[in-house]
Amino acid sequence: MPPSHEYPKNFARFYDIIYFGMRDPADKDYYLKQIFNTKGKTLEAGVGTGRLFKTALVEGADIYGIDTSSAMLEELYDKIDPGEHYRISRQSIVDFHFDFRFDLVIAPFRVMSHIIEKEDQLKALNNVYRHLNPGGTFIFDAFVPDPEYLKKGFENFVDFEDEDEWGNKVTRSVTTRPDLINQIIATEFTLQWTEGKTKKESWSFPLRFFFRYELEHLAERSLFESYRIFGDFQGGSLTRESKEFLTVCRKTP
Ligand SMILES: C[S@@+](CC[C@H](N)C(=O)[O-])C[C@H]1O[C@@H](n2cnc3c(N)ncnc32)[C@H](O)[C@@H]1O
Repeated sequence: MPPSHEYPKNFARFYDIIYFGMRDPADKDYYLKQIFNTKGKTLEAGVGTGRLFKTALVEGADIYGIDTSSAMLEELYDKIDPGEHYRISRQSIVDFHFDFRFDLVIAPFRVMSHIIEKEDQLKALNNVYRHLNPGGTFIFDAFVPDPEYLKKGFENFVDFEDEDEWGNKVTRSVTTRPDLINQIIATEFTLQWTEGKTKKESWSFPLRFFFRYELEHLAERSLFESYRIFGDFQGGSLTRESKEFLTVCRKTP
């Protein structure tokens, strides 16, 4: 768990303000529907601050969460009833362990893009497989790389500007350096916010991008008996316009 992969405190703190508006409309209904259609237990790997987990738990799902970032988990602990804290633990999708099995495991919003090495990606898939009951499902998403931005990247692009709960301005800018050979986007986020005075903090981390046939090979190398890759959260097939690789892997009943 190299520290640069871990969401730092202030990035965890502003995560909800930034992503609830940016990401909820794309995937929240989809993932909640999968959770509520599941009869047994669900695991959210890379649960973060509980963007999806909290709603699922409050609405009665038997859901557990793991994440490698203690800062993200601290945000989540603060939001949920202390009697439910046992559901959350600091573990990696690569080598987590539970003494029981799940019927659904989800890794929503680019969790697998934080797993850089292909052997770790394979270990993650197989570890999930071993923690699923027969007939269980694993769902994860990854972005479809945009050739234009793989070529030029972003330079201090402001992708978020709004107010926090006290009406103070928060901005985030992003600079990316794509590396096609290693399939990495070296990403730097810079946050600026007001807390008495103006504060600024940057965080650099690598983000792994995937191509379609790589995902197919990965799923086929894994223990999963079947899989399908969709192009959106409405069940659409992959097309030239797809922005998402939504991979659904199934364990034979
Ligand atoms: C973009 S956030 C998504 C959080 C949440 N699933 C959501 O949809 O809002 C990615 C999360 O994956 C976590 N993560 C990164 N590497 C991980 C790993 N190896 N195992 C588990 N979680 C990991 C990060 O700490 C972060 O909380």
